[in-house]
Amino acid sequence: EIGIIAEGLGFKAYLVGGVVRDILLGKEVWDVDFVVEGDAIKVAELLAQKHKVEFHPFPEFGTAHVKVKGLKLELATTRRETYPHPGAYPLVEYASLREDLLRRDFTINAMAVSVNSQDFGTLIDYFGGLRDLKDRLIRVLHPLSFVEDPVRILRALRFAGRLGFKLSKSTERLLRSAVSLGAISSAPKGRIMNEVRLALREERFLEILELYRKYQILAEIFKGITWSPKLEKKLLRLRDIITWHKIEFPKEVMDYGWVYLLVLLEEMKEEEGMAFLRDISAPSWVRETYKIMKRGSKSTEKSLLEAKRNSEVYLSLKNKPLYFLLMLMTKENLKEKVKLYLEKLRFVKVNVEKFRGLSGRELGEAIEKEKMKIMDEALE
Ligand code: CTP
Repeated sequence: EIGIIAEGLGFKAYLVGGVVRDILLGKEVWDVDFVVEGDAIKVAELLAQKHKVEFHPFPEFGTAHVKVKGLKLELATTRRETYPHPGAYPLVEYASLREDLLRRDFTINAMAVSVNSQDFGTLIDYFGGLRDLKDRLIRVLHPLSFVEDPVRILRALRFAGRLGFKLSKSTERLLRSAVSLGAISSAPKGRIMNEVRLALREERFLEILELYRKYQILAEIFKGITWSPKLEKKLLRLRDIITWHKIEFPKEVMDYGWVYLLVLLEEMKEEEGMAFLRDISAPSWVRETYKIMKRGSKSTEKSLLEAKRNSEVYLSLKNKPLYFLLMLMTKENLKEKVKLYLEKLRFVKVNVEKFRGLSGRELGEAIEKEKMKIMDEALE
């Protein structure tokens, strides 16, 4: 349909980038990118009119967003980017599809599929993306790629971790050399942090973290963290805990990346950790949990460790954020108690009928007392 609208205007349109990669991998896609050799904003406008939906143009970028049937479509005019000098903002000019693909990061992200009627569905693969997808390789399109855009160093490792791919030999060499030239620290912090946020959202964040370490950028991103077998074990335990939590409490599924981050930042000084959370624009509840962790963790750990009765476990953990509880579970000597709390104690119910006549605080206290009585008697 986009193809037909584009043709009506004398343009050609193509599906491009990550969506082509994901379709070839058999994944579901919701964000769909198109490029138009011509006026993409005009095509988006006509598409939106036809479906009676809103459209959001960004004339300075030559792009527009349209939401149709649950899909987020982005239409962009094909463009070329040239870098006046490494790391600089690129100069953008209109260009052919080939040039638009050539400015991209990796071969697997630089394929297109035609949506024009004469060759609808044809894969356009100038740089061997399909072969690399089959060989499970991340490969840059040209030697300066990482220097021009250091964020790509992290992107390469994010895709490698997510897909279980390797870097091609030459790409690995180029990545290492860009890192040793200080590419990460010279890049804008905001862009780097943005990319780390994306990594945190990945199911296989731990694999990505391992790659950060292998290629010596972990210490540049998480300044003040020293990697140790102990930390690694803890993160691996956290991964098991997250898997358990996902299966056990599917309704509570959450952004587990933040829990990994909390564990990583645990050893830092509070001010450093807070500064990091600000840099990465962590939501306020993550910052709150971090504070609780840094300030209250020791006393909670102590009372939990000493707790004998179920009610004592309950009292130590009640009203604590779930993120904090999952983090506590990484400590071997506390794990079973937190688990008991999450599985049973927090769900203990009492029959309110019994307290007819009470209200407000009195009622609340009576209920809590009764709950603790039940858990100490019935759950022993
Ligand atoms: N791209 C690039 N260099 C970057 C960022 C993006 O070349 N630093 C290109 C890639 O071709 C990528 C496309 O822009 O496929 C879209 O970027 P983005 O939406 O960030 O990536 P996706 O590949 O869609 O990845 P994800 O699955 O994580 O959304």
